Amino acid sequence: MKNIEHIGIAVKDLEAANEVYAKLLCTESYKSEKVRSEGVETSFFKVGLNKIELLAATSADSPIAKFIQKRGEGIHHIAFEVEDIRAEMKRLKEEGFELISKRPKKGADNKLVAFLHPKSANGVLVELCQEITDSTIPIGDEVWEDL
Ligand code: CO
Repeated sequence: MKNIEHIGIAVKDLEAANEVYAKLLCTESYKSEKVRSEGVETSFFKVGLNKIELLAATSADSPIAKFIQKRGEGIHHIAFEVEDIRAEMKRLKEEGFELISKRPKKGADNKLVAFLHPKSANGVLVELCQEITDSTIPIGDEVWEDL
């Protein structure tokens, strides 16, 4: 694990939350992006070296909609930046952590992402993320074996 890359916050209304966080952090959101596969719309803020990711549901069956229904708005996940997401997933699986998906997926903000089940980490949903660069191995289910 290299560092905390961002903290994800589940919100009901992305536009309203954007205004709140722009005031709070004294900076505008620098990026907004839909991740269709996850049913979420995201908005990113920079705070020094760190980022805040606001997440709103785009459909009723989105994981964010379910989270808010169950627990209300609030901190949804902590994302750690990693050098090699596959290697880190393998290491954590061997340590007994439960991976939510068997393969990394393309997430928001030009990242490959994978999540660990909150029950594996004392109730915290942990995201692993690796920046996608020219040297990143090709993205797509077909190129990876399940872990
Ligand atoms: Co995230």
